[in-house]
Amino acid sequence: MLDIEKKINDLLSEVETTSLNDEKELESFRIRFLGSKNILKPLFGELKSVPNEQKKEVGQQINSLKQAAQQKFDGIKESMESSSVDKERIDFTRPGEPVKLGARHPISIVRSEIISIFERIGYGVSEGPEIEDDWHNFSALNFPPEHPARDMQDTFFVEKDEREMALRTHTSSVQVRVMENNKPPIRTISPGRVYRNEAISSRAHCFFHQVEGLFIDKDVSFADLKQTLLYFAQEMFGKKAKIRLRPSYFPFTEPSAEVDVSCTICNGEGCNVCKYTGWLEILGCGMVDPNVLKASNIDTDVYSGFAFGMGIERIAQLKYRVNDLRLYSENDVRFLEQFKSAL
Ligand code: PHE
Repeated sequence: MLDIEKKINDLLSEVETTSLNDEKELESFRIRFLGSKNILKPLFGELKSVPNEQKKEVGQQINSLKQAAQQKFDGIKESMESSSVDKERIDFTRPGEPVKLGARHPISIVRSEIISIFERIGYGVSEGPEIEDDWHNFSALNFPPEHPARDMQDTFFVEKDEREMALRTHTSSVQVRVMENNKPPIRTISPGRVYRNEAISSRAHCFFHQVEGLFIDKDVSFADLKQTLLYFAQEMFGKKAKIRLRPSYFPFTEPSAEVDVSCTICNGEGCNVCKYTGWLEILGCGMVDPNVLKASNIDTDVYSGFAFGMGIERIAQLKYRVNDLRLYSENDVRFLEQFKSAL
């Protein structure tokens, strides 16, 4: 190998291996390999003394060395420029953008509150399927075959002309499952979504949420039911709350009652929310009908019980004064954001 070829090789490996980390290093590289007094110039001088038959080849080697140096310079310069543009674009001193804090849905807030009120007096939580069979939703709950609640008008059946499976119309179905699988004493609440075939308006919806309760033990009386509901009303609406029971009818309870709470706005004085009656309806209840206990093989000579059921939307409506039921399922952020402070 000629002396000049060795020099070229050394310079080539220098070009390939030197790392250029900043503009200063890049500039000295440029001066050394590409500047007006660059290191390749003397090589062209030396070329004169190379034997004629090798001149062409050595000349090409010097040219590729020059190209390699130029390419390296261009490449590094370009990447330095683009990264310095990025640096200009990012302003590290800018304050961070705040992450928006979400809010819990009012139905979830009220649901948890109801659950915790009943947990404090020993109730457990039970859940069950939303698609339910006729037995758990109706038959085991003493619904006569011709009862209007079974009718197409109220119930969403899963298959056309087939009435065996339906979207549950209440969470009493869960309580049947609890009675079937547990021995008394039973103390349970069943929160969940229920479905009814109603036209959607501000006052009705095709689905809503319930919490139903069931208590079965020896010597359970109507007085226990009343006291439990008074405790609930006062925990939920404040110590001044009063309740009143009006006789009613449900297939699964006897006797049955509807429960009103004293108006949370006017404390019973009379206002437009309670339509000047001083009372607001909040739930249905009663002593579990012996037929229902028997359907789940509970000995009615030993045990009795009470049950109650309420709509979560209704309680939320009274708590937050939201008068249009549709708002609860529209997910309008302007509505939902208002519950941040209730977290
Ligand atoms: N299941 C009834 C309903 O959905 C509510 C209820 C439950 C009434 C328990 C009485 C006792 O309307």
